[in-house]
Amino acid sequence: DMEFSGQRIVFVLGGPGSGKGTQCSKIVDEFGYVHLSAGDLLREEVARGSEKGQLISEIMKDGRLVPQEITIQLLRDAMRYHKDCPGFLIDGFPREIQQGMQFEKEVVESDFLLFFECSEEVMEERLLKRSKTSGRADDNIETIKKRFGTFVEKTLPVINYYGQHDKVKKIDANREVNEVFTDVLSLFGGLPAKKATKIKKKN
Ligand code: AP5
Repeated sequence: DMEFSGQRIVFVLGGPGSGKGTQCSKIVDEFGYVHLSAGDLLREEVARGSEKGQLISEIMKDGRLVPQEITIQLLRDAMRYHKDCPGFLIDGFPREIQQGMQFEKEVVESDFLLFFECSEEVMEERLLKRSKTSGRADDNIETIKKRFGTFVEKTLPVINYYGQHDKVKKIDANREVNEVFTDVLSLFGGLPAKKATKIKKKN
């Protein structure tokens, strides 16, 4: 599939509250990437009030993972709106190995996986602080614990899997926002430009 082959594809993972969204919006400001958060796309679907949205809402409230067909379709549809951006930050995806394999088969291969490593203690503190104002149905201590469980059980194996293929770039996310971003900057700033694949002319 050549559809997105000239664009850099970065998977962004980390536990709930590790700061994925925060760092992604800073990368967008600095490098013009498009940020697609699987969680945001799912929340938009819930807000539309569709039948599918109803199902998604129940799963999210329980801290489990929605079926991969739904997430992959939402991501692909969103990507098609941004044919000209230098790259995509695909945030909160893939949360299980099978999701990643299916996406890379059906949509496009990833270049690398950015992993924001953070202790559970720090993540919990951030999320409980945010819960006062976020309005998110999953920002309560009970669901937060379940989200941690899902991350450990399903998503850490994804990071190990991509690590075995030498595709993980790990950043210590326990520090304050700008300290974390310093590492992000040096990583992205040091990447060679990804050239668009040339299409051979046939006469
Ligand atoms: P999703 O929306 O992805 O939530 P999450 O992974 O739990 O992550 P958060 O958005 O809560 O946190 P974040 O890491 O982005 O941190 P943020 O920058 O916001 O997923 C929600 C649900 O959707 C899942 O549970 C699942 O049900 C479903 N889902 C999503 N993707 C799916 C998929 N691929 N497949 C199936 N289901 C899927 O920061 C958090 C807080 O901390 C903020 O208040 C922020 O201001 C603060 N903060 C950030 N960085 C720092 C710092 N360095 N120091 C101090 N405070 C900080």
